[in-house]
Amino acid sequence: MTESRKRIVAGNWKMHGDMDFSSELAGAVAAGASDYEHIGVALCPPFPYLAAAAEAVEGTHIHVGAQDVAAQSGTGAYTGEVSGQMLRDVGCWYALVGHSERRSLFGDTNAVVAAKYQAAREAGLVPILCLGETLDERDGGQMESVLAAQLDAVMGDDADVLSDAVIAYEPVWAIGTGRTATPEQAQAAHAFIRGRIATKSDTIARHLPMLYGGSVKPANAAELFAQPDVDGGLIGGASLNAEDFLAICAAAAG
Ligand code: PGA
Repeated sequence: MTESRKRIVAGNWKMHGDMDFSSELAGAVAAGASDYEHIGVALCPPFPYLAAAAEAVEGTHIHVGAQDVAAQSGTGAYTGEVSGQMLRDVGCWYALVGHSERRSLFGDTNAVVAAKYQAAREAGLVPILCLGETLDERDGGQMESVLAAQLDAVMGDDADVLSDAVIAYEPVWAIGTGRTATPEQAQAAHAFIRGRIATKSDTIARHLPMLYGGSVKPANAAELFAQPDVDGGLIGGASLNAEDFLAICAAAAG
């Protein structure tokens, strides 16, 4: 990474834990993360535990993020949805948008992801836009076209929508599989995404933090984060253990 970009490590807890687990894990990360104040640290617990996690990290530099956000803004008859404004109200700073599990299991198309992205920004949240190809797409030589379509759906012709946002490149075949992308594969995808943004705005491309996600562990984090276009990680499984997550933060802190 370059000096002008902030490093960020975000933990995606997915549908794990309960109230006690969430408070304890957030508290343990908060207690250990004071050594890494120059990097961004984010925790994304399930919706019911957001407020407790926000309370546990209060007064530290750690931010809390949601794992998803409604495409609709404000209030309304949208049973089961949680708006960006509500997420802000319970202490969220970030929201994941377009995680591959949302795309593959819950029907979040590129158009839905774009609407959620816009709703997150309108609410004052920092969106972490997740992009990534499946193994079939990679093997079929479609990695770049898939990433381009996912990115373009959000960016359109105006890279300004990416200012103050974060991108996470997460190859679907590496998520929860133990099969991490090699540092070279991660770098190639990140460089492609950054290059595509640069065709619209070089400044925004240069400043946008881009995280790698997919089986990041303490043992492989440093070599991934050493790549010039990898500015940190979006961590699933390893974020459920404070010691592992803090070791990954240490790798990002360098
Ligand atoms: P993983 O998940 O670290 O368990 O592979 C990453 C993610 O889905 O964000």
